[in-house]
Amino acid sequence: MLEEQGKDDKYSVHYHLRAPHGLINDPNGLVYFNKQYHVFFQWNPEGTTHENKTWGHAVSDDLIEWDYLEPALKPTDWFDKNGCYSGSAFEKDGKLYLFYTGNVRNAEGGRESYQCLAVSEDGVHFEKKGPLFEHPKMYTAHLRDPKIWKEDETYWMVLGAQTEDLKGTALVYRSPDILNWTFEGEFMDALPDFGYMWECPDVLKLENKDVFVFSPQGIEPEGVMYQNIFQTGYVLGQFQDGKFHSDNEDFVEMDRGFEFYAPQSFKDDKGRTIVFGWMGAMPPEEEAAVPTIKDGWIHHLSLPREVKVQNNRLIQQPVDELKLLRLQSSDILGYISQIEKVRFNTPEQEIECVWKEEPASFAWTLRNEVAVSYEAAEKQLTVERTNWLTSKRETRSVYLDAPLTALRVFLEDSSMELYVNGGREVFSLRYFNEQRTDLWEWQNDNWKEHVSQLTVHELKKTVILN
Ligand code: FRU
Repeated sequence: MLEEQGKDDKYSVHYHLRAPHGLINDPNGLVYFNKQYHVFFQWNPEGTTHENKTWGHAVSDDLIEWDYLEPALKPTDWFDKNGCYSGSAFEKDGKLYLFYTGNVRNAEGGRESYQCLAVSEDGVHFEKKGPLFEHPKMYTAHLRDPKIWKEDETYWMVLGAQTEDLKGTALVYRSPDILNWTFEGEFMDALPDFGYMWECPDVLKLENKDVFVFSPQGIEPEGVMYQNIFQTGYVLGQFQDGKFHSDNEDFVEMDRGFEFYAPQSFKDDKGRTIVFGWMGAMPPEEEAAVPTIKDGWIHHLSLPREVKVQNNRLIQQPVDELKLLRLQSSDILGYISQIEKVRFNTPEQEIECVWKEEPASFAWTLRNEVAVSYEAAEKQLTVERTNWLTSKRETRSVYLDAPLTALRVFLEDSSMELYVNGGREVFSLRYFNEQRTDLWEWQNDNWKEHVSQLTVHELKKTVILN
């Protein structure tokens, strides 16, 4: 069937987590349970559109090699018949609790949402318990994506919501036992007029700071910011007595690239806070033009990123385990005076470039397609690619808060993550270019000044589906 559609999978990804086939969107229910990492995900196994949302399920011992299990949740009940939407997982007394949103289209064509629970003894088979509570009246049916955490003896849930006057917000619930929930009110007073809906709220309890991450819809572009159709960002502050108190009302975009949305965090057994996001192409016309559709699949997740707060910024770094992907590493600093173009054997690469002092400017093209450029005068870092629908070049930029001293790039055949200055900024994006080369090329010599490390790692393929 797939072969008949002309499957060649030249744009497949091999170390980013994707669905076996069909459409993947949000990471869900991230948890370290029974000595394994579990990643559940929004999955339409029947096609590449946003229908039939199940919870796909992949497990891993090391965040590198993944095994796919049967979907954990399927939209088979009256309360989730049009989709088992996003949510989270929590372990209590050796059992795994999944909280998710049941999406229902009613007879009048309207939407109903139910916050539901499913419980498992083994982390593989789940028993649905149905809706947990009725919603308060002052909100529309856009109530979804429950995220659970525990503080002292209390369980908390934050929920994405929309007020009756169509403003995005988040609601908070509390429970003494994870089963009985009471509505506490709105999660924070800051950003009262910030888009029409907040999706996928999450609370990160980090060592020195609490971080509220959410994905608001309806934010207008402002300079280089908010250029994507929907955003994902964070606010720093403190969660206390059922309210999030923001340090200032700054909403900072978590990723500056074209494709990053709906991230979720979890704490693992080593005490790390790790985030996965969804690298989905979003405006519907662009999504419909993604060339992997003819190969029967679309989108993938970001790499797992360990997050911390340093100097009032969320720092994101690929988890250390990703170093296990390295097959062969070449330190090419010794050849730097000759380097203009570099060609490699594998499309899966990691590149590390470190400067002692920042370069004045540069332009660097990867794969004849993605251009990364920098202007020290403005501290402006820009990533440019060709839009696969319009064939026009398009950019995303950020003004760094410190001189550029390090870039770390993860490349695959249609995907790239760029970590800047040790993860103070990240750009994630897809690209689809017909010309298949494993080439990267620097457009001027300015970048060579002050380089202290230049390493290329060829990476292993760990997600092999075909
Ligand atoms: C975010 C989102 C969530 C929802 C899910 C449905 O991408 O819209 O709000 O639960 O996707 O797949």
